[in-house]
Amino acid sequence: MKDLFAKIYKDKGPLGKWASQAEGYFVFPKLEGEISNRMKFQGKDVITWSINDYLGLANHPEVRKVDAEAAAAYGSAYPMGARMMSGHTDLHEQLQNELAEFVGKEATYLLNFGYQGMVSTVDALVSKDDIIVYDVDSHACIIDGVRLHMGKRFTFKHNDIESLEKNLERATKMAEQTGGGILVISEGVFGMRGEQGRLKEIVALKKKYNFRLFVDDAHGFGTLGATGAGAGQEQGVQDEIDVYFATFAKSMASTGAFIAADKEIIDYLKYNLRSQMFAKSLQMQLVVGALKRLDMLRTMPELKENLWKIVNALQSGLKERGFDIGTTQSCVTPVYLKGSIPEAMALVKDLRENHGIFCSIVVYPVIPKGLILLRMIPTASHTLKDVEETLEAFSAIRSRLEDGTYKRVSAKLMEMMGES
Ligand SMILES: Cc1ncc(COP(=O)(O)O)c(C=O)c1O
Repeated sequence: MKDLFAKIYKDKGPLGKWASQAEGYFVFPKLEGEISNRMKFQGKDVITWSINDYLGLANHPEVRKVDAEAAAAYGSAYPMGARMMSGHTDLHEQLQNELAEFVGKEATYLLNFGYQGMVSTVDALVSKDDIIVYDVDSHACIIDGVRLHMGKRFTFKHNDIESLEKNLERATKMAEQTGGGILVISEGVFGMRGEQGRLKEIVALKKKYNFRLFVDDAHGFGTLGATGAGAGQEQGVQDEIDVYFATFAKSMASTGAFIAADKEIIDYLKYNLRSQMFAKSLQMQLVVGALKRLDMLRTMPELKENLWKIVNALQSGLKERGFDIGTTQSCVTPVYLKGSIPEAMALVKDLRENHGIFCSIVVYPVIPKGLILLRMIPTASHTLKDVEETLEAFSAIRSRLEDGTYKRVSAKLMEMMGES
């Protein structure tokens, strides 16, 4: 019989195999200093384009003050226990009520982490007779939620309404046999490429098919819509989203998340979300911090305006210089370049060491082989000067990519890795 660990010793996985070259630099990098547009990486100043602090709240003095006061008042333990048992407070309820009003739903329920919360919301919404139809490019937390489902599931091609409809037809036939219902899952904004989920068109299919819609709006909350209520508000279909999810880990610059829906649905979910029933409640420090941040989202529209000023300057500047930024419809700004993984490594190193630009790099298997995706997250704390410097740097690295500089630099690395 094989040792359980035999496969681990042999194969570190598609990303893990790069660990000795990549760790500490390309993956698990340590950004130091206060969270901001400019931080330090390995002792050097860099403009940071990889932090989801959309509204620049992470290091806002008012936020820092409230966080510190809440920590002094409550510590990081309070309240102890799961919400249902001993971890419930007035402030948890107040935050839920304020969030419900903000996103235009009857009720919300707090989640101690978005990821686990999404997994168990999917799990709680369906039983084995139900059918899930979800976008093939869904975030891992949706996929993991679907993995728990004991019944049938279908994927539809990314943001492809024709494919969704085909799968809804299949799902409808199947549901008629099983006696179950259908749950459709999409994202408000797809976090890698920045496209919005086609919520308006998905909702329009409700006239023809009987399903409920669950939307993960991690990147839309706070950044899209007239009041920042997200992609549903932006597309005018917030009311038709049956269950809405957002995390505090992006616009709110914190930890925690929530789901929003009709009161009867939330009342059901709060008794059936295993990730919340059997885990510690969101600590008070985070609840008080979230109340403050939500108040700022409501009362300081300039935060979102500043964000979009930077988004527009960055995206139009990249387009004017002929960069391919794909089909983004949100703040998420992907830049697609052609090259191998070693070339991508040389390019990112050049960006960080010689131009002081820090952004995330995404390569195969997350995106197709031969493509390099530099993923940029503009925030309200960036300046137009940051944008200008970054555009200059991007033009420079593109020239070096095209004249083969990175190929030469990386040839040695490719040899070492046995790749061609
Ligand atoms: C689309 C999406 N859903 C869910 C999550 C998970 O949220 P959290 O970080 O609160 O666990 C993320 C990442 O933060 C995300 O990008």
